[in-house]
Amino acid sequence: MKNDLILRAARGEKVERVPVWLMRQAGRILPEYRAVRNSLSGFKELVETPELACEVTLQPVDILGVDAAIIFSDILVVPEAMGVTYQMKKGVGPIFETTVRTERDAESLVIPDPNDKLRYVSDAISLTKKELDGRVPLIGFAGAPWTIFSYIVEGGGSKTFSNARKILYQNPTLAHSVLYKITQTTKTYLKAQIEAGADMVQIFDSWAGILPKKQYEEFALPYIKEICDSIDSVPKTVFSKGAYRSIAEIAKLNCNTVGLDWNMNRKESRQLVGNERTLQGNLDPCTLYAPDDALVKETQQMLEDFGSQRYIANLGHGVYPDTDPEKVKLFIETVKKHQF
Ligand code: CP3
Repeated sequence: MKNDLILRAARGEKVERVPVWLMRQAGRILPEYRAVRNSLSGFKELVETPELACEVTLQPVDILGVDAAIIFSDILVVPEAMGVTYQMKKGVGPIFETTVRTERDAESLVIPDPNDKLRYVSDAISLTKKELDGRVPLIGFAGAPWTIFSYIVEGGGSKTFSNARKILYQNPTLAHSVLYKITQTTKTYLKAQIEAGADMVQIFDSWAGILPKKQYEEFALPYIKEICDSIDSVPKTVFSKGAYRSIAEIAKLNCNTVGLDWNMNRKESRQLVGNERTLQGNLDPCTLYAPDDALVKETQQMLEDFGSQRYIANLGHGVYPDTDPEKVKLFIETVKKHQF
């Protein structure tokens, strides 16, 4: 590996400089991505065609100079392989054809063999590894069970996810049975990604923040724990957006890196997490709309707050689609140039 900064930072080994990448860097912001995307029938064709997924995974490495690639896919391929298919609607987001709200729905969910149903992801990873040729590590990923549960209960995105939250109060046994199935699928799916060549993996719990602490620790954390405990060959990152009150518990998981969103206090998080874990994050994605000098200043402040070791620079959530790629480049350059 020519540049293994991110792997070393994740493992807590010494790094010469802070590694940097952006959540949701593949696609959305790059005109080169939109050119590929607009020539196709839709998002799913891109996700399901390994050559195309590989091409757009490499774009941010070539164009932005990030220290890691993240495989182009989506967290929603997992529920789809379990039998709940989705459509990606322009300007709306994901829409599922069915929802999972009853025992019967839960029973009909399958625990698929990822080497069969999600073969296109493994193939995209193998191809991307070959094309990367050791330039930077490749990150594999999956949604956390709670976040996947939220989407399949709602049947798409939601402001409140109150249908998903309702089940936790009305039928916790049903919730656990669905979360269990998602967890079993996610474990074998991440293993398949690692076998295909993923150098590290990240679990996205995008909707962690809508649960009270007690429910987060009953319905979300134990399943993430089971996934983390099932993987020991590559570094693992857990990004639980909004889970402020559970950061210390997240840090106790068998993971290497804890992702922070932009509302999480840097110094306080470091204290809660301790020195045995790497932190990742957490610039407000909207800082990339600021004038250059403010963006540079905020980025430098973030670097000083986190320090030079046991740290991976990133935003506090995915980069927004209308962000100017030049601002992204400035963010990356600022991290790379910083002298502590
Ligand atoms: O990070 C990357 O660059 C790799 C690819 C990636 C995508 N989605 C591609 C994508 C990753 C890691 C994801 C994760 C994902 N998907 C999450 C977790 C991260 C987060 O942002 O919280 C979630 C919640 C989803 C579900 C999802 N996918 C939604 C809600 C939407 C629609 C709105 C949006 O964010 O764009 C998607 C679509 C999607 N996934 C796009 C891309 C590039 C845009 C669709 C398009 O190009 O038509």
